[in-house]
Parts: sequence; C-alpha cells; structure tokens
Amino acid sequence: MKFDTKCVRAAGGPDPTTGSIIAPIYQSATFVLPEVGKNLGFDYTRSSNPTRQRLEEQMAAIEGLKYGSAYASGMSAVDSMMKIFEAGDHIVSSDDVYGGVSRLFNTILTKFGLEFTYVNSSNPGEVEAAIRPNTKMVWIETPTNPLLKVTDVKAVGDIAHAAGCLFGVDSTFATPYHLKPGEYGADIVMHSTTKYLSGHNLIIGGMLLTDNEELSEKFKYMQKSAGAVPSPFDCFLIMEGLKTLHLRMARHSENAMKIAEYLEAHAKVEKVTYPGLASHPRHEVAKAQMKGGYSGMISFELVGGIAAGTKLMNSVELCALAESLGAVETMITHPATMTHAEVPQDERDARGLTDGLVRLSVGIEDVEDILADLDQAFAGI
Ligand SMILES: Cc1ncc(COP(=O)(O)O)c(C=O)c1O
Repeated sequence: MKFDTKCVRAAGGPDPTTGSIIAPIYQSATFVLPEVGKNLGFDYTRSSNPTRQRLEEQMAAIEGLKYGSAYASGMSAVDSMMKIFEAGDHIVSSDDVYGGVSRLFNTILTKFGLEFTYVNSSNPGEVEAAIRPNTKMVWIETPTNPLLKVTDVKAVGDIAHAAGCLFGVDSTFATPYHLKPGEYGADIVMHSTTKYLSGHNLIIGGMLLTDNEELSEKFKYMQKSAGAVPSPFDCFLIMEGLKTLHLRMARHSENAMKIAEYLEAHAKVEKVTYPGLASHPRHEVAKAQMKGGYSGMISFELVGGIAAGTKLMNSVELCALAESLGAVETMITHPATMTHAEVPQDERDARGLTDGLVRLSVGIEDVEDILADLDQAFAGI
C-alpha cells in the first residue's frame, strides 16, 4: 500500500464479528478467561487492549516500522523509553528539545543517575565530540520545538551507530508524512500523538516505534509495568485522526509556506525560521530528508521584541493563543512564558530561545483567513 492508503486503511477492518467499518472501542479493563491458564489474546488493559493494539499496528504501518507501543502522553513515551537505561548511562541530546523533555531529563531522570549532554545536533561534529564511553543513546528532535533546528538524521545516526549507541528521534514536528527517521537508521522513533497524528486537539498521547524486537519487548514491558497507557477511547480518536494525516499535513505545509513567506517579507518581522525557507540555515538538509513539504510550524521574532510580540499575540482573533500545536486550528504560542517557561532563563538565552520569540502552528483553515488575521493584528503594533 502507498502511504495515503496506509493512513486510511492500516487501522484494519471491517470488524469480523459485525462488519463495522470503524474499529470497535474495547472499553474494558479486563477480559474473561475461557478457562484457567487460557485467554483470548488479552487479559488486562494495562498490558494490552485490542483497540490499542490496532492503533499500534496502524501507526507502525504508517511509520514503516514493525512495532509500535502507545502511551498516555508524549512525555510518558519518552519517560518509558528512558527507563531502558541504567544509572551511570549517558545520553547525548539535541539542545533545543521540547521544554517538557529537558525538564524530565534534568529534574527527574538525573535523580536516577542518568547523565545528559546537550549539543546543537544540527552540527553532527558536536554530537560526535560529546560521545563518551558510557554513552548509550543519541537523542534528537528534528525540526526542534520551538527553534525549528534541523538535524541531518542519516549523518547523526551513523555517528551514533559507529559509537555503538542507540539512535532515537522525536519526530513529532515532521510526522511520517514528511520524514520517516527509520529510513535513515533511527532505532527508535517517538511521537507526541497529541499533535499532528491525532490532529484535532482531542487527546494527549504518545508512541514509540521500532524495527527492533528486543526494544519493542522492553517498551511493552514498560506499558505493563509502569502503566502509562492511553485509554481505548483515546486510541480510537488517534486512529480516526490518522486516517486524514496525509491530507492535513499537505495543507498544513502549504499554508505554512505561504505564511512563512508573508512573514519574511513583513517590515515588522525581524526574523522568521521555517525549514522550507531558503534562509533557514539547514534548508538543504531539510529539503533532502523531508518529503512533500516542511510541516506547519513557524517561529518568528518581531521588530520591537517581547512588547510587540505580546501585542500581536493578544490581538489575533482567528489564531488561538494556546499551548499546543499540530492540530487543525491555527495556534499561536509564546514559548518563553508558555511551553518553555520552566527552561531556566540562562539556558533559554544560550539556546537562542528569546523572550520575543513567537511560535505559530499553522492550521488547515483557508490561508487567506489566517493571513487576514495576522494582518489585522500587525496593524495594531
Ligand atoms: C516535540 C515534542 N515532543 C514531545 C512532546 C510531549 O508530548 P505530550 O504533550 O503529548 O506529552 C511535545 C509536546 O508539546 C513536543 O512538542
């Protein structure tokens, strides 16, 4: 099956018992055993559930990998993945990871003896230089949240593997529509399914994908042992969202390209970062590894910094001032006070995450309406 067909059909069906074209929601905590020592494939939903299993198979097919494990949030997917490591293990991570991920690494996982080094993974040499004898994984995000830094997945994956490390990619921003990190050697692909994959601001969810059976077993063991699993109903909503992933991503990207060009030409905008713009420092890398566009995330800074940015964010009417991203509605965010507020100021400064940075998650509305909204908001500053 081609990618678009997989999005629509990989959830399987029709249901063999009723013919229902939509996968049933098995909203059940437990499953009755026919006799002692036998079950019908399921016993307790923390360990596995038919609806969750169907979502995991659908997502694995779309990502082009063998195994998927669904979690209750993107964060719990990252947390469950990190628990495959042991005290004393070292991880090299992209410096501009989502604020919640660096908070988990720095304030929680370090308490259990994991060590982290942050590098600008857009420069593969920095990754190589940070690897130590106890490094067990290289972890990247591409494009990153919120600075949209792009990493050459193949180059960094090769460095990780040459050093005998696992290579993991948070591919939330790119989605398998634009990028399949597994094709470039990633051992683990992680998504916050809260974002583009479910796509409708309905659920919080996460997913780990791999071709490696041993890793998959560990991820399943973590579902069962730590229990950070999504409800069957949330799995159902993600499955339905995935069916239009290809259509939504095409529109997110098309709209974002037009808005990035508009912002770049705007006299009140100081700087625009979008991987699809030739001005992006790693545009050529993005062009080579992303297919069908560059997703829907843009970050920009206004002339007049934080004051102008605040005014703009308070003046938009169609764009929603909200924390999340990757849904059908256009959302505007102020990373310094919202998504990345808990990243310490000195770290934000070092990363170039300025107080004036505005993040736009371009939705799938008519682009003319989004542009008109930005126009009226700009007029007031
Ligand atoms: C790139 C990235 N990774 C992980 C997460 C965490 O996902 P969740 O909010 O579903 O826990 C987010 C959330 O914004 C994100 O943007």
